[in-house]
Amino acid sequence: MANKWSPDSWRGKPILQVPEYPDQAKLEEAENTLSGYPPLVFAGEARELKRQLAKVAEGEAFLLQGGDCAESFREFHPDNIRDTFRVLLQMAVVLTFGAACPVVKVGRLAGQFAKPRSGDTETIDGVELPSYRGDIINGIDFTAEKRVPDPERMVRAYNQSASTLNLLRAFAQGGFADLHRVHQWNMGFVADDAIGERYKDMAERLDESLNFMAACGLTSETAPQLKETDFYTSHEALLLRYEEAMTRVDSLTGEWYDTSAHMLWVGERTRQLDNAHLEYLSGIGNPIGAKIGPTTEPDYLIQLIDRLNPENEPGRLTLISRMGADKVEDALPALVRKVKSEGRSVVWSSDPMHGNTVKASSGYKTRHFDQIIREVEGFFAVHNAEGTYPGGVHFELTGQDVTECVGGAQAITEADLSSRYHTHCDPRLNGRQALELAFAFADRLKEERAGNKATVMKQVVGGI
Ligand code: PEP
Ligand code: CO
Repeated sequence: MANKWSPDSWRGKPILQVPEYPDQAKLEEAENTLSGYPPLVFAGEARELKRQLAKVAEGEAFLLQGGDCAESFREFHPDNIRDTFRVLLQMAVVLTFGAACPVVKVGRLAGQFAKPRSGDTETIDGVELPSYRGDIINGIDFTAEKRVPDPERMVRAYNQSASTLNLLRAFAQGGFADLHRVHQWNMGFVADDAIGERYKDMAERLDESLNFMAACGLTSETAPQLKETDFYTSHEALLLRYEEAMTRVDSLTGEWYDTSAHMLWVGERTRQLDNAHLEYLSGIGNPIGAKIGPTTEPDYLIQLIDRLNPENEPGRLTLISRMGADKVEDALPALVRKVKSEGRSVVWSSDPMHGNTVKASSGYKTRHFDQIIREVEGFFAVHNAEGTYPGGVHFELTGQDVTECVGGAQAITEADLSSRYHTHCDPRLNGRQALELAFAFADRLKEERAGNKATVMKQVVGGI
């Protein structure tokens, strides 16, 4: 019998990707401070997200997850939060309207600070320093002083997450997300190009539908769902000291929840079966994600699923496939087939970012828009062939007009990368590129869902 789970039982397990804090007293003080702070989310909200993800698992909704690769203290600004929220809303409307499908919106926001790194140290011009691990741990500047892990940063990250979430809740519930404002979301953003035109067309059609509904008596006043939206937060549960300090018992159910975000995921580098990260995630009640790359074995995947979702509860586990455009069609089918034949309920989501990172000749890390499209296309094709449901997408994006990923209708070139390259870690899609992707997949999702409905109908008819 395995030892009993507790919020700190991960401490007895092997662990990867942890910083060495030089000042233990300061570390304990920061952990104690955080455990006395208010939760950022309520357990009931995490359960509601799980319920919505169960709908995704059943093929009745679609998951849109996106935001920064790494949030930073430097880029903390209300305009950045608003613009990322707005582009996610725009993508969600394109998908909801284009594919007639409810979209579950989950931000990589309000807590996405800690980063796994390929090496413990980084060498520049012969100088070797500890790697940057995200603003919640150390500083990005390449100086010995800034690279020392500082526990106070956890408290600052908590405070930044709290104000970010506060603004997101205000936007989601306070009228900004009203469907009657779909036109206005576009102002000064993509209004002036081909994607903008497409968006304008859609907004006009949406207006017609809203006018029709108003004539039938359905307005923002009589149908609050037109003026409010549900928006959830998520991040990689990498810095377990922080997550443990935010773990609380839910007074309604007596279960443990990580109250730092609604959904948490485990990264590709830290999902070893007997290690600390899976131990921690196995005991909390939140919906969980797991990144899976091209070397994932089918038998291992079943063990991973059973470790994180032993009750096979729909909506509990999202598998986030990040294979790379060239590998997805080879690596994914065996995994999808195995999960299906073993009867495990999961949400299948595609992260077309992390398997497609390349270095431009100028040295910048970038991703090609076409490869991103190709990976999602491949993901859809695999599910289509296997008779399973491609339930979601996971993007690194920002509402800012950055030049970090090349390609798209804007035709950003490698030479353009240096003009507005602001990311603290991986290259993100900008607002235009993100919206272009949403249009590309709305049609595909519509076909998929039509196909799915046809299959269900066939089963129903076959059963009579
Ligand atoms: C990430 O999502 O930023 C990340 C590091 O992903 P992965 O674990 O899939 O490499
Ligand atoms: Co990333």
